[in-house]
Amino acid sequence: MSHDPIDPKLLFREEISKLPAFKLGVKYDAFEKENPDLEILRLGSNENLYGPSPKVFEAIQNALVDVNFYPDNTCSEIAEEMAALLEIDPGRLIFECGAENIMYSLTKLCLRSGDKIVSLQPSFPAINVFSASAGAEVIGVPHEDDLSFSADKFCAALSDDIRMVYLCMPNNPTGSYFTASQFEQIVGATNPETLFVLDEAYVEFAGDKSDYPDTLAILEAANQPYIALRTMSKAYALAGMRIGYGICYHADFAALFKASNTVFNVGVLTLKAASAALADRDHLAKYLAAVSSEKKRVEEALRSLGLRLFNSAGNFVCVSLQSLGQAQQIASDMQSAGVFIKPQKGRGSEGVLRITIGKPADNDRMLAELSALT
Ligand SMILES: Cc1ncc(COP(=O)(O)O)c(C=O)c1O
Repeated sequence: MSHDPIDPKLLFREEISKLPAFKLGVKYDAFEKENPDLEILRLGSNENLYGPSPKVFEAIQNALVDVNFYPDNTCSEIAEEMAALLEIDPGRLIFECGAENIMYSLTKLCLRSGDKIVSLQPSFPAINVFSASAGAEVIGVPHEDDLSFSADKFCAALSDDIRMVYLCMPNNPTGSYFTASQFEQIVGATNPETLFVLDEAYVEFAGDKSDYPDTLAILEAANQPYIALRTMSKAYALAGMRIGYGICYHADFAALFKASNTVFNVGVLTLKAASAALADRDHLAKYLAAVSSEKKRVEEALRSLGLRLFNSAGNFVCVSLQSLGQAQQIASDMQSAGVFIKPQKGRGSEGVLRITIGKPADNDRMLAELSALT
């Protein structure tokens, strides 16, 4: 007997059936085929355009003979190496296929229907989708008129029934951050039973901001339960390999997280690539220095076009525009010239444009295209 296929919505929890449709990422291959004369410039995903350490390619090559074996599911080698760098117990570290996967699991494991999360607005949109799928609500604290975020307003949103704080710092898409005294104020105002999720995907780039706080020391001093999310996608140029990590306030938190997780996550090639990338401190330092000086140059050029910028500590700059429509139009016109940048909803009707810092010639090309439009 034949019948219509069952409505998939009936097979998922109610929260899932209400989610907006999955947004496909940019299809660069298709764009290239349709525009064979255009050279694509990817400045929309905060990828590292300088590329990884050459030692990464060597490590991947050497590890190819092991692809028929499962990886070390404890990620012990990279955990030891990272723990030595951070001077912490390796048991406090979680490794996953990207920081986003840790975020995803945290929302699944820690949030209950009806829970509330405090975050910035705009911030990394994944937290909204993941929280919605757990039936939890994100309270987004918007930026001020001068494009700064107010610690007082963030604290005012921190009632005792907040289940999780999700603070992205440097924030994506704005690059904004709180200073040490502001961050202390926020941690001090957080319920000691609230999980503080600090998303530091871009933390390495904040090294040139003298007022960027020692976030982990402040969380430790306050005895706050926390997990700091970090990634090797950005500063270490391993976005395609998929590896991110979490620094947990206590090894028992990491153990509980791992107990609930799938057994094999990070692959054999990725583990070797990560160790090689982590070891090449010189390569990392050169890239960070290049981003720092190029970002200053790009910021000056954008300001001279009359654009308003957030104070970004990331590997990107962020422009505030009147409307989302305006941001989308500029991004679409830039895309017609082969330059990809990211429009996003800002505060209220505001639109923001996030632009990754590339190599000098990439930035010159982006600036030339943008100045022709503004
Ligand atoms: C703020 C933030 N958190 C997490 C991620 C995800 O990083 P990963 O590539 O490690 O999943 C990104 C990626 O763009 C990000 O911008």
